[in-house]
Amino acid sequence: MKIAIINGPNLNLLGKRETDVYGNMPFEKYFDALQKKYPQVSLHYYQSNVEGELVNELQRVGFGYDGIILNPAAYTHTSVAIGDAIAAIKAPVVEVHISNVHAREDFRKLSHVSGKSAGSIFGLGLKGYELALQYLIEEGK
Ligand code: DQA
Repeated sequence: MKIAIINGPNLNLLGKRETDVYGNMPFEKYFDALQKKYPQVSLHYYQSNVEGELVNELQRVGFGYDGIILNPAAYTHTSVAIGDAIAAIKAPVVEVHISNVHAREDFRKLSHVSGKSAGSIFGLGLKGYELALQYLIEEGK
């Protein structure tokens, strides 16, 4: 089973960025531990700060992978193109946010991604990625 994790802008700074909101763990470290814990799945990680590159990656993995875990970060709230890309591809997408976007500023309550995704997880920290992975593994059986 092949699952892609795609992170959007500023998530390359996890562990350094607003640690009170996003925690102290660099994503690469979390990713390595996740891959070790789920050796039956082949995980692929991609991060970009550029909207079009995220669309390109969704299109690249969207027809061959069994599922995608996507945190589009700030583009969640602005990007029609990422929403359209999710609608265009075959692989199921689970939207993940580390923070509880509904407990923050109003502009974070709008998502162009939720309506096109299989489901959404927010506010559970990095654990949200593992929960999304468990869902995709179950669904892919
Ligand atoms: C985020 C929430 C977004 O509103 C924010 O722009 C991010 C991270 C999260 O994971 O909590 O960069 O997607």
